Amino acid sequence: MENKKTAFNLFLERIRKIKDSSLERDEKLQDISKLLKDNLPYYNWVGFYFASPGKKELFLGPFEGEATEHREIPFGKGICGQAAEKKKTLLIQDVSQERNYLSCSEAVKAEIVVPIFKNKKLVGEIDIDSHQLSPFSQEDKKFLEEVSRIIAELF
Ligand code: SME
Repeated sequence: MENKKTAFNLFLERIRKIKDSSLERDEKLQDISKLLKDNLPYYNWVGFYFASPGKKELFLGPFEGEATEHREIPFGKGICGQAAEKKKTLLIQDVSQERNYLSCSEAVKAEIVVPIFKNKKLVGEIDIDSHQLSPFSQEDKKFLEEVSRIIAELF
C-alpha cells in the first residue's frame, strides 16, 4: 500500500507539471489521460467529460483507450450522468450490478467517475474504466479527487 501511495504522489507531481506547462488545456488533459492509462495497469480507459454550459448534459473530451459511442451523456444517465447529477464521486466495483449503466465495451468490469468543480460548479468529470473486478481502493478515490482539484485550475 505504501508503494502505491508513493506512486500516486509521484503522479500528482507529474500532473501538476503538466498543468503548469504551456500546452493547450485539451493537450494537457490528453497527456494526463495517457500518463494514468500507461502506468496503472487496471486503468484501461481514462478520459474526461465536460459539462455543456446551460445544458444538463456532458460531452466527451480527451481520452485514452477504445473509442466510445457515448459522446454525449444527459445528467442522470449512466454512471457519468449520475455522478454529474449527484455531484459526487461514484465508485462502481462491478458494473454488471448496475441498472443505470452505459456500456462502452464488454471488457469493462468496474468504473470510477470523479466530478471536477470550479467555484463549486460542476465543469467536468474524470472517468476511468477497468477490465478488473473491484480494482479501485479508497486510495484511488483520494488520488483522483486530488487530480480533479488540480485539473479544476485549468477551467
Ligand atoms: N460507462 C459510462 C459511459 C462512459 S464510458 O465508460 C467511456 C457510464 O455508465 O456513464
